[in-house]
Amino acid sequence: MAYTLEEFCTDCHAALTEDPGAAGREKIRAQLEKLLANEEFVQTHLAQQGSGKNLLYHDEATDVYVMAHGTDQGNRTGKPHCHGASWAVYGQAIGDTNMTVWERTDDRSEDGHATVEDIHQFTLSPGKAALFDTGIIHSTAHPKPARWVRVTGTDLDTIERYAYDPDRQQMKRMTPVT
Ligand SMILES: [Fe+2]
Repeated sequence: MAYTLEEFCTDCHAALTEDPGAAGREKIRAQLEKLLANEEFVQTHLAQQGSGKNLLYHDEATDVYVMAHGTDQGNRTGKPHCHGASWAVYGQAIGDTNMTVWERTDDRSEDGHATVEDIHQFTLSPGKAALFDTGIIHSTAHPKPARWVRVTGTDLDTIERYAYDPDRQQMKRMTPVT
């Protein structure tokens, strides 16, 4: 029997209830890879959705969100960003996501000023999931249309978080969607 979305959601709740820290998040990452191996899940919840995002599950008790994301655009490159006080697990369903991890290198003494350095790059291919723990800055690039799942510790659209411009050496608060 394939591992279903319902089982994944139950297991996310259990993992975070048992350990809301790094261990619980790592468990979710591993469980997301199991879910991505379920072809029917990928067909139903990812293949048939277009660009943009779609809520798959929200757990009131732990505040975990499971979202389906997609882009039909080729050659899409996002800005480096953090996930504020949250963490994020990205799991690839269709196409690739080229991930870059950045490190902030300035002394944080000047408002709006930030320098970031590209420290690690890897490709997230279908079936794979990666954890970006609290405080990690990353950017995503999609050379071709892609679909992926993003699991977060809360609703990222409502919390304080920042996007970084490596060339201009600036950081800007991302607008909360209320
Ligand atoms: Fe992100």
